Amino acid sequence: MRTILITGAAGALGKLLRKELKDWDRNIRLTDVRDLCKPTNHEEIVPCDLADLDSVIEMIDGVDEIVHLGGKSVEGSFEEILNSNIRGTYNIFEASRRHGGKRILFASSNHAVGFHPRESKLDGNSIQKPDSLYGVSKCFGEILARYYFDKFAVESVSVRIGSCFPEPKDRRMLATWLSPDDFVSLTKRVFEAEHVGSLIMYGVSDNQEQWWDNSHAAFLGWSPRDTSEPFRLMIEENVPRSDWDDSDIQYQGGAFAEAGHFEDE
Ligand SMILES: NC(=O)c1ccc[n+]([C@@H]2O[C@H](COP(=O)([O-])OP(=O)(O)OC[C@H]3O[C@@H](n4cnc5c(N)ncnc54)[C@H](O)[C@@H]3O)[C@@H](O)[C@H]2O)c1
Repeated sequence: MRTILITGAAGALGKLLRKELKDWDRNIRLTDVRDLCKPTNHEEIVPCDLADLDSVIEMIDGVDEIVHLGGKSVEGSFEEILNSNIRGTYNIFEASRRHGGKRILFASSNHAVGFHPRESKLDGNSIQKPDSLYGVSKCFGEILARYYFDKFAVESVSVRIGSCFPEPKDRRMLATWLSPDDFVSLTKRVFEAEHVGSLIMYGVSDNQEQWWDNSHAAFLGWSPRDTSEPFRLMIEENVPRSDWDDSDIQYQGGAFAEAGHFEDE
């Protein structure tokens, strides 16, 4: 049986995959700096700080596939972003290369392109326009993924995840929502597909409001099944509309685009 590593396994998406992949035909190795409780059947727990290259190289030994979720998942200080996201992602790709190149799903983010206006429809070739240091770190991960494929044939899919929560919580998420089930099916598809090359795509459900076009990723054979529409009425009744000139609604990144520099706050 193949072994899949999940980094950031104690986080929200890590816990989701841990639960939903438990009957998949994989051994699952879980890692985080936070507590992961006891392993169940087919699970193995390897605590590790992603910023430490030697530990990451050791941890990846025997792994066939990697879902790289670990890191700072919102804006933070440059030191935090540098260690967890920039060093951490470098260490994952470099460790993969040293072990012969394991396919990687890299959890990128819509915040890599958050300064595009909402009226623009983006695809895999749209330029990076990060809205935060966090977004800059995701741009770094995407470019690093390209480099490791072009030079060392390490295959990866950088998924610009929209908003993966049980339900959309606000008006923006009517466009950006990725349902948990769609995230799970996308994760499986990334590792079931014969080839993925070096792909950048959007992790978003089949919402009515669409900012992102995944047609360049059609070869992957993944289609989302859920939509945010059943939540529209509830959100529109409960969440007030913003003024059009508020920067949090002009840009795709929302509040991340509107916020000032983190270290000034
Ligand atoms: N949830 C979303 O909607 C969403 C949207 C866009 C992108 N993403 C990305 O998906 C990934 C997972 O998101 P999440 O919501 O589960 O985040 P989360 O914050 O819940 O989990 C991240 C996990 O990474 C771990 N981590 C942080 N630094 C680490 C380090 N140096 N070494 C080891 N582990 C470390 C944390 O302990 C945490 O458990 C993140 O990379 C995030 O940027 C998520």
